[in-house]
Amino acid sequence: MKEIGKIWMNRKLVPFKDAKVHVLTHALHYSTSIFEGIRCYNTPNGSAIFRLPEHVDRFFNSAKLYSMKMQFSKKEISDAIIKTVKANGLKECYIRPLAYYGFGTMGLTPTPNKVDVSIACWEWAMGEGKAGKFSGARCKVSSWIKIDSRSQPMQAKAASNYANAALARVEALENGYDEAIMLNIHGKVAEGSAENIFVVKDGIIQTPPLSAGGLEGITRDSIIQIIEENGGFVIERDLERGDLYSADEIFMTGTAAEVKSVTQIDKVIIGNAKMGKITKELQKSFSDVTMGKDERFLPWLTFI
Ligand SMILES: Cc1ncc(COP(=O)(O)O)c(C=O)c1O
Repeated sequence: MKEIGKIWMNRKLVPFKDAKVHVLTHALHYSTSIFEGIRCYNTPNGSAIFRLPEHVDRFFNSAKLYSMKMQFSKKEISDAIIKTVKANGLKECYIRPLAYYGFGTMGLTPTPNKVDVSIACWEWAMGEGKAGKFSGARCKVSSWIKIDSRSQPMQAKAASNYANAALARVEALENGYDEAIMLNIHGKVAEGSAENIFVVKDGIIQTPPLSAGGLEGITRDSIIQIIEENGGFVIERDLERGDLYSADEIFMTGTAAEVKSVTQIDKVIIGNAKMGKITKELQKSFSDVTMGKDERFLPWLTFI
């Protein structure tokens, strides 16, 4: 990451090198933070943030689930996101709003502490989303079980969820794969370590219901709406490991990943080891939407 530009911290735009927190910040010790991942695209009509209101809504919902008292309104956060992107002069970037219990009392109970908010953005280099974008990602079904909504609210995009996801990701990478797929406590497919998952079998597109433990992905929702708008449909049903192995196509969705193809699960080759036809079409449709080329979805873009 280039150590340049400005980061928004509790209303102030501070230089990158000054965007610091105290070592006794509550969230550092107890993982009491929530965040968002948003993309700004360089469309032919200018830079546009993809589904900004939906991301801000999820940000506030995550905060609510952790009893965070936000010092800012949704409008203030939306405006701050736009301001931060502009201040950094980036046409295309990844945006990371973060809310965390800050420095105050030290002890498990976070609520006496102030909730601090920061917004950073950085140039989008494809990085970890690359595998699967052009060829196909090779995924390992993780031996780590997806944490469960009986333990933590899974619809919060909370830092604490990602320790589990990071264990799965590292296990997959250390075993020579690109990405992990996580099963829930009942053995049903939940999602990837940072993406939702779809399976195509005999032309039918299927995805696990949110009750399987995956995050309510904004890309997932976008893809479902794009499919429906184009006259198709998606079936939400519990999927098992065997459904992955026998799929004709598998793809994952996420803000970072966009639509990425999966061509191997464990040692099993999916389809003919190449990106499937439906995945390719959806990749193109999604790219048209984010680039403002599909009039029907222009309201999803906030031009800045
Ligand atoms: C665990 C997890 N699931 C799914 C997603 C996809 O969500 P979205 O499409 O909103 O980026 C993400 C990425 O944010 C994620 O971290």
